[in-house]
Amino acid sequence: MENKTLTIAIDGPASSGKSTVAKRIASELSLIYVDTGAMYRAITLEALQNNINIKDQQALLKLLEATEITFEPNEKGQTVFSNGVDVTYEIRENNVTNTVSVVAAHPKVRQLMVERQQAMAMNNGVVMDGRDIGTVVLPNADLKIFLVASVKERAERRHKENEEKGMFSDLEQLKKDIAERDYKDTTRESSPLKQAEDAIRIDTTKMSIDEVVNQIKSLIK
Ligand code: DC
Repeated sequence: MENKTLTIAIDGPASSGKSTVAKRIASELSLIYVDTGAMYRAITLEALQNNINIKDQQALLKLLEATEITFEPNEKGQTVFSNGVDVTYEIRENNVTNTVSVVAAHPKVRQLMVERQQAMAMNNGVVMDGRDIGTVVLPNADLKIFLVASVKERAERRHKENEEKGMFSDLEQLKKDIAERDYKDTTRESSPLKQAEDAIRIDTTKMSIDEVVNQIKSLIK
């Protein structure tokens, strides 16, 4: 199958399984995987490290203009670089997770991110995951998927992942954090998380990763 220009948009709330599924689809179909959440996380990390007020849109925009965010595939998925520095792990830490939605709410920050994301998909086949891919970034994507799962299920998945990594994890706190991020992502003014009209909704609550991947692959065919 020639997939070079196939564009697949995968949106959905936090911890709905988007990145795991998107990585698998990209690798099986030899497409580039673009984790747009990692881009918002990378600029958040830069802001925190440089003591930039995350409520100051102009300062963040200036910082973003000076920050090149790139990806490189590796055996586990991909490495994320911010101006050439590997930030793959740091961008998943709590200080970033708890502040990124403030950064992602700024319209000018989003506009520049969207331009960069569109450029990545210009001449490449991509699987891109995020919140606004089907609605804003790639409105003409060949396939749009909207993944959902209950808050309880998503918190339990995150809890298991944390425990497997040997990280401290509090299930009740995770439920609260996920519900709060859902609220912030869906109610913000600029490009809120919303299912595109032509997106296919898949509820992954009772599904395994393999089942979700297979369903999407059969939709691609
Ligand atoms: O998917 P994630 O948890 O890594 O996303 C991090 C944050 O970035 C989350 O608060 C939502 C936001 N985000 C966004 O607003 N638009 C995107 N395309 C991707 C992520």
